[in-house]
Amino acid sequence: MAAFFFRRRFLAGALLLTAIAGGSAYAAVVRQAQGASALPTVTTYRDPGCGCCILWVEHMRQAGFEVIVRNTPDMPSVRTRLGVAPHLQACHTSVVGNYVVEGHVPADDVKRLLREQPDVRGIAVPGMPIGSPGMEQGPVKHAYSTLAFDEKGQTTVFERH
Ligand code: CU
Ligand code: CU
Repeated sequence: MAAFFFRRRFLAGALLLTAIAGGSAYAAVVRQAQGASALPTVTTYRDPGCGCCILWVEHMRQAGFEVIVRNTPDMPSVRTRLGVAPHLQACHTSVVGNYVVEGHVPADDVKRLLREQPDVRGIAVPGMPIGSPGMEQGPVKHAYSTLAFDEKGQTTVFERH
């Protein structure tokens, strides 16, 4: 009798454990698939002599992006190749999915770009506005806009900050 009860309880416990393990493995796979499809890897080109780019890369990583950093002393040719006009220029240039992201663009703007998939070449925060991600200087924050740009370099305001 005792052995019978023991076996029943053991079986029930084993079934419960299997269900829990199966459920959490499934959840992990779903989470992984969602993360992977929602956020493409970012490739960031930067001049190795510049430090603020790395702070922006940290900001992107904290927002959940995987970022590959490519050091190059020749940023002008990277910008020419990727279609970033001089008036859009900042200090680093990134490729995210089909888009170019120039400068210290907030991660939330990049996520919105990927979500909405507008017909643009990319988005940019020209110059290096104080208070943009990676350009923090204490409480100082200058107003700036993230601009969307096409292959001719024509811009529209994407987001105001
Ligand atoms: Cu910078
Ligand atoms: Cu920099």
